[in-house]
Amino acid sequence: MILITGANGQIGIDLADALVERLGEGEVLVTDLRSPESLRPGRKYDVLDVTYMESVEKIVGSYKIDTIYHLAGILSATGQRHPELAWNVNVNGVRNVLEAARKYNCRVFWPSSIAVFGPTTPKVNTPQETVTEPGTMYGATKVTGELLCKFHADHHQMDIRSVRFPGIISYSTPPGGGTTDWAVDMFFQAVNHGSYTCFVTEETRMPMMYMPDAVQSILDIMDYENDGITVRTSYNLAAFSFSAGELAAAIRRHIPHFKCFYEPDFRQAIADSWPSSIDDSRARHDWKWQPHYSLEAMVSDMLIHVRAKIATS
Ligand code: SER
Repeated sequence: MILITGANGQIGIDLADALVERLGEGEVLVTDLRSPESLRPGRKYDVLDVTYMESVEKIVGSYKIDTIYHLAGILSATGQRHPELAWNVNVNGVRNVLEAARKYNCRVFWPSSIAVFGPTTPKVNTPQETVTEPGTMYGATKVTGELLCKFHADHHQMDIRSVRFPGIISYSTPPGGGTTDWAVDMFFQAVNHGSYTCFVTEETRMPMMYMPDAVQSILDIMDYENDGITVRTSYNLAAFSFSAGELAAAIRRHIPHFKCFYEPDFRQAIADSWPSSIDDSRARHDWKWQPHYSLEAMVSDMLIHVRAKIATS
């Protein structure tokens, strides 16, 4: 059986849908700090706080888990405000999951982030192997998590796989507390109000990915034969990069009256410390990573779904 931690979060909802569709009823156990308000079909629910080792081991052992998608985590902006919480959830959570996976012989997927990079990293076409000196606590927890994954893979011969996600754009569940959240908020505000006040400047350019590609990347890397996985920290991954102004212009092609204003806050400094584009050639080579959505295709599809979601809410 498969375990997803942090399953109420942005990636968890969509990944669980994809795994339930693939594996059928009753094969996916979704867990989070609390049960969601509306339960979706085909999966089992339980409550799990990943910061408690005993709880993680109990869930993994009692449900006979063989694969863990460990998504529970605190994002960058929340992590800057609550650094101790970020360390506890992000580092102790990964450690507990890896230890339970070792005990019960599970495979593990864990998402890292472009936040492992920082002001001293080359900003354009950031290489796979480069400086990882992040300026945020979130970034520090992701670097630590990557090194823990590598240690367990090398030292205990465990099958652990990871990708460094860029900002992820989706409509099912809003992200919470991230620096790339503007790229999601802009769609909802454009449809709802025809205007948006963006918390980074018009010129701020960041690597991004549409959720269907993000989910596909998780399925693809986990499907690939173990010998082909040559990176045991975490793979760089990219789809496209755009600035806030470019996204606003792309939305304006569908909603001509849309107005975007720019009022940068503390998240600007985090955004400025991250890459503007990513070299993901290693993932493309090793496990044939290939994104499918362009910026234009993503914007069209997002607007269809955001409109439908707002119409029915
Ligand atoms: N999207 C995340 C954030 O903004 C980065 O991993 O925190």
